[in-house]
Parts: sequence; C-alpha cells; structure tokens
Amino acid sequence: MRKLIYLPPKRGGRLDNIMTFCDACEQKANASNASNASNASWNLEFTIQSADEAADEFTHVGLTTLLDKKVVVKLMLNGIGARQEKHVQQLFSKKPHINIVQPICTFECNESPIRWHHHVIVPQQFCSGGPSKFVVIVQEFVKAGNLRTFNGWNDDIWKSIILQLTYSCMEWYESYQFIYDDWHLGNILLDVFEPTKNLTKYKAFGHTWKVNHSETTDSHIRPVLTDFARSSTTSTMKSKHFEPFHLGNEISLVWDMLRHSTQNTKYIDAIDTYCIPIGEKETIVDIIHDVKAFVKCINQ
Ligand SMILES: Nc1ncnc2c1ncn2[C@@H]1O[C@H](COP(=O)(O)OP(=O)(O)OP(=O)(O)O)[C@@H](O)[C@H]1O
Ligand SMILES: [Mg+2]
Repeated sequence: MRKLIYLPPKRGGRLDNIMTFCDACEQKANASNASNASNASWNLEFTIQSADEAADEFTHVGLTTLLDKKVVVKLMLNGIGARQEKHVQQLFSKKPHINIVQPICTFECNESPIRWHHHVIVPQQFCSGGPSKFVVIVQEFVKAGNLRTFNGWNDDIWKSIILQLTYSCMEWYESYQFIYDDWHLGNILLDVFEPTKNLTKYKAFGHTWKVNHSETTDSHIRPVLTDFARSSTTSTMKSKHFEPFHLGNEISLVWDMLRHSTQNTKYIDAIDTYCIPIGEKETIVDIIHDVKAFVKCINQ
C-alpha cells in the first residue's frame, strides 16, 4: 500500500477510499501492459463524447467500472494536450481540490484511433493494441452533468457558483501555480450534495474567502472542472512563472462566461463594471480590491 501524501477526505475527492481506487487502477494498467494486447481487461461501457465531437485534439470520453463503481476514462492521442492533461492530473492527485475532478490514474497503451473516432458499440475493449500511443486518463465520474446543460439556475446558485470559481482561481494561482484557461460551460461539471456545513472556505493571499451555502434550501451545487489540455502550469511553461495579470485575466474570463447565465440586473451590472478592469490589473493587491468590490456589489 502506498503512503498517503495528502489526506483528501476533507478538501478533495468525492470518492471514498480514493487511494484504493488509485491502486486498483494502477494494478489493472500494469497488468494490461504486461499481458499481450488481446488480454486487455479494460472495457468502455458507455460513450459520453466521441472523438468526432471533440472541439480539437482527439479525445474519446466514456465510462468503465473500477471496484464496482463507474469511473470516467478519457482516451487521448499522445500529443501536447494529452501530456498537459496528464501533468495536471498528477498535480491534483498529490494535492486534491474540491472544485477539480478527482484523478484516479493515468497510463499509456497502444490503440487504433480509427476505432475510437465515432461512438462505439458497447461494451468495447480498449488498450487492445494498435499503431498509436494513447494516453488514458481515469478519473471520478461527476454525475449531474455540466453547466451547459444545467437548467436549474436561480440567484443563490449563480452567486454560489461564481464565488466558488473566483476563489478557486485565486487558490490555484497561489497554491498550485495553475491557470485553467479553457473556460466554457461544458467543461464545468456539477456535483450536487447535501451541505453538512454552511461554509466552504478558500485560502489565498493571506485571506480566507467564504462561500455561504445557507441561503440555498436543500441541496447545494459545486462546480467541478475537467479538461486540462489547454491549461497552464508554471512547471511546464518556458518562463516558469505567472504574472498577476494571468490571474486577473482568468477571473475576468470566469465572470464573462457566467454573464449570460443570470437575468438579475444587479449581477449583470457588477460584471459589466468589473469584468474588463480586473483583466487589466497588474498587481495582486489591485486584483483583490476588485474581487472584494465585485463581491460587495453582488451581495448588496
Ligand atoms: N469526470 C467526468 N464526469 C462526468 N462527465 C465528464 C467527466 N469528464 C468529462 N465529462 C463530460 O465529457 C465532455 C467532454 O470531456 P472533455 O471536455 O474532458 O473532453 P474534450 O475532448 O476536451 O472536449 P471539448 O474539446 O469538447 O471541450 C464534458 O463536456 C463533460 O460533459
Ligand atoms: Mg471540454
């Protein structure tokens, strides 16, 4: 059994016993690489999105079963996007974050892209050999769909989601050296849960930033990001560091993305006032100032 580097239960991961899943996944990956390809034991049981529907790089997303639980697999052609996705999975498996999908394991195998271009007849074995190197990403299945198809918007949910994402950006920038950079509603999955505590706390730049869940009546929604092929991490960047404007720009993109998910004029006015200015700020102090002003505006 491997040692826990970081204890996820409180801050990350919706899967109980995540390390058990990671170990089972790695064992299965090693076994399928060691055996000859025809014995590959991985089965795709459902296609969520096939490669012909993906916006750019080749990715087939579907479900498989691991330890009697449905988990997501992403079959990616080995390339820049797949390598970055793998790198980010490793970053967040060492140090999970509640608003990032929980990684389980990542491995490589040989496959044939032609087989995976369209929807496949399920179940279908994968990693069964072929001319191309695939990167396989295994991660938790976040069941409640994504924000693009979500139709339960109300003021409390909108406010909660925009605050969780804004504060997450600040934590990722400071504590993970991570910028997401691919903001669209289809990449934001939804975790619906019964709140046991009324607050989610984020820590960044010497402050604790709180999102209050008590206003929502029954269940609460947590946005969970997936799809890291276009994200940035300082360790894979040439310059090896971010500038504050990267963070201002990231928050600006989040606010702009969510502008069309509300009809509340108070929220729209707050976005129209702060969205462009925050993207132009050059210091963290100025960014924090704008975030606080924005939050005050939507809380009024
Ligand atoms: N862990 C997950 N749990 C549930 N659904 C997921 C998960 N990961 C991805 N999906 C669904 O599959 C879709 C495609 O996944 P992803 O965005 O990672 O692939 P992609 O090829 O980069 O897509 P695109 O290029 O269209 O953005 C997502 O929009 C999401 O709805
Ligand atoms: Mg995507």
